Amino acid sequence: MLGKWSLLFSHMCSSSSSLLLLWTLVGLDVVEVSGSQPGIPLSVVKLWASAFGGEIKSISAKYSGSQLLQKDLWAITAPRPGTNSSSEPGSPKYKEPEKSVRVEEIDGVKLVKNLALKLEEVFWKKAEATRRLVEAAEEAHHQHEDNPDLQYEYFNAVLINEVDEEGNNVELGGEFLLESNDHFNNLSVNLSLSVVQVPTNMYNKDPYIVNGVYWSEALNKVFVDNFERDPTLIWQYFGSAKGFFRQYPGVKWHPDEHGVIGFDCRNRKWYIQAATSPKDVVILIDVSGSMKGLRLTIARQTVSSILDTLGDDDFFNVIAYNQEIHYVEPCLNGTLVRADRTNKDHFREHLKKLFAKGIGLLGVALAEAFTILNEVRIFPYLIGRESAFADNLKWMACANKGYFSQISTLADVQENLTWTVLFPRLIS
Ligand SMILES: *[C@@H]1O[C@H](CO)[C@@H](O)[C@H](O)[C@H]1NC(C)=O
Ligand SMILES: *[C@@H]1O[C@H](CO)[C@@H](O)[C@H](O)[C@H]1NC(C)=O
Ligand SMILES: *[C@@H]1O[C@H](CO)[C@@H](O)[C@H](O)[C@H]1NC(C)=O
Ligand SMILES: *[C@@H]1O[C@H](CO)[C@@H](O)[C@H](O)[C@H]1NC(C)=O
Ligand SMILES: *[C@@H]1O[C@H](CO)[C@@H](O)[C@H](O)[C@H]1NC(C)=O
Repeated sequence: MLGKWSLLFSHMCSSSSSLLLLWTLVGLDVVEVSGSQPGIPLSVVKLWASAFGGEIKSISAKYSGSQLLQKDLWAITAPRPGTNSSSEPGSPKYKEPEKSVRVEEIDGVKLVKNLALKLEEVFWKKAEATRRLVEAAEEAHHQHEDNPDLQYEYFNAVLINEVDEEGNNVELGGEFLLESNDHFNNLSVNLSLSVVQVPTNMYNKDPYIVNGVYWSEALNKVFVDNFERDPTLIWQYFGSAKGFFRQYPGVKWHPDEHGVIGFDCRNRKWYIQAATSPKDVVILIDVSGSMKGLRLTIARQTVSSILDTLGDDDFFNVIAYNQEIHYVEPCLNGTLVRADRTNKDHFREHLKKLFAKGIGLLGVALAEAFTILNEVRIFPYLIGRESAFADNLKWMACANKGYFSQISTLADVQENLTWTVLFPRLIS
C-alpha cells in the first residue's frame, strides 16, 4: 500500500518541478531579451528566477491544497500508536479519514493526451468560427462600394429601445426584442441580430461609419450560423478600423454614471494585437518649464493612452527631458521593458511624479532614444494650439516614417492616438 502513496507523491513532486522548470524557462527568456540590450546581469536574472520559483511554489502549495491532502493521506496511512498497522479500527484520538477521499493511480501521460485532444477540438472549432467570419467580412467588404450619401438605419447598441418625450423611438434606436438568456449570464439578448456600438466621441451617422455598418450586416447570418454549430461560443464581434464595433448577440449598452461609454474597440488588446506587430517604443516627454499645468496633464494622459495600446509583445521605456534626460524609472536606464500590465502600472505611478522646469533640449533625448532603438520611426505629439513648432515636428515625422498629431484638449487624446498603434517601431 505504501508503494501507491509514494507513487502519488512522486507525481505531485514532479508536477511541481515542471512548474519550476517553466519558470526557469521564463527566466532564460528574460536573459535572451535583455542580452540584446546590454543591461541586466545574468546573476540578477538568476536571483529573480529563484525568487519567482519560491513564490510559485508557495502559491501552488497554498491554492492546490496539497498540504491538506498530504495530511489527510497521512491520517489514512499513519500507523496507530502501539500498532504497526493502519487498518485497525481507529482510536478516537485519530482523525477518521474523509470517506470521500480515495486514492487512485492515474496514467499521467494518457490524461494529458486526452486533455490535449479535447483542447485541440475546442480551439479548432473557435478558429473555424473566426475563419468563417473573416471570409464573410472580406467578401462583403469587397462587394461594397462606398457611397458618401448612403442613408442607413442600423440598431445602435446604446439607442435601441430608447424613446423621446413623445414616446417615439429615437433615430438609430427602434424596437429591439431582447430575451434573458442564461448562456449569456442572464443578460437580455437577441439571438438573431447583432448591434453596433460607435465610440462616444464619433458621429453615429458619419458616412464613413454608416458604409461600414452597412456592408458588415452580412456578418449577422454568419454569427447565427456559428452559434448554431457551436453552442459553447459566447460573444462574437467585429471591430472596425473606423471605430464601430458589431456585437452578437444583440444586447443593450448602458452608459456609466457620467453618461459616457469609454469603449473603443480599437484600444482593446485583441484589436491591437491583431492590427499591429510587436514593437519597441521609447516615449519622450518634454518636462521643461513651458509644459507647466494643463499641458503636463495632457502629456501624462497621452503617454498613459499610448501605454494602453501596448501589449505583452511590445517593449517600451519612458524618458522625460528638459536640459537633461531622466529615465522615468531610473532603474531601467538604457533598456526596454515588456509592456505587461505590471510594468505599465509601475510607469504610470512614476508619471505622476513628473514636474515641469528648465528648458527642453530635444536633441539629447532623441540621441538617447536612438541608442536604445535600432530602427526608428518618430510620432511627435504637439500639445497646445501654437503652430510655431508644428512645421519642425511634421518634418521630423515625415523624415522618419512617422505621423504628426496636434493635441489641444484632453478629449483629443483618444481620437488622435488611434494612429500610433498601426506602425511598428515607433517613437513619440
Ligand atoms: C512495530 O514494528 C517494529 C519493527 O518493525 C517492531 O520492533 C515493533 O515491535 C512493532 N510494534 C508492534 C506494536 O507490533
Ligand atoms: C431580434 O430583434 C428583432 C427586431 O426587434 C426582432 O424582429 C427579432 O424577432 C428578434 N429576435 C429574437 C430571437 O428575439
Ligand atoms: C440565471 O437565472 C436562472 C433562473 O432565473 C438561475 O437559475 C441561474 O443560476 C442564473 N444564471 C446566472 C449565470 O446567473
Ligand atoms: C544611466 O546609467 C549610466 C551608467 O550606469 C550612467 O552613467 C548614466 O548617467 C545614467 N543615465 C541616466 C539618464 O540616469
Ligand atoms: C486630432 O484631433 C483633433 C480633434 O479631434 C482633430 O481636429 C485633428 O485633426 C486631429 N489631428 C490628427 C493629426 O489626427
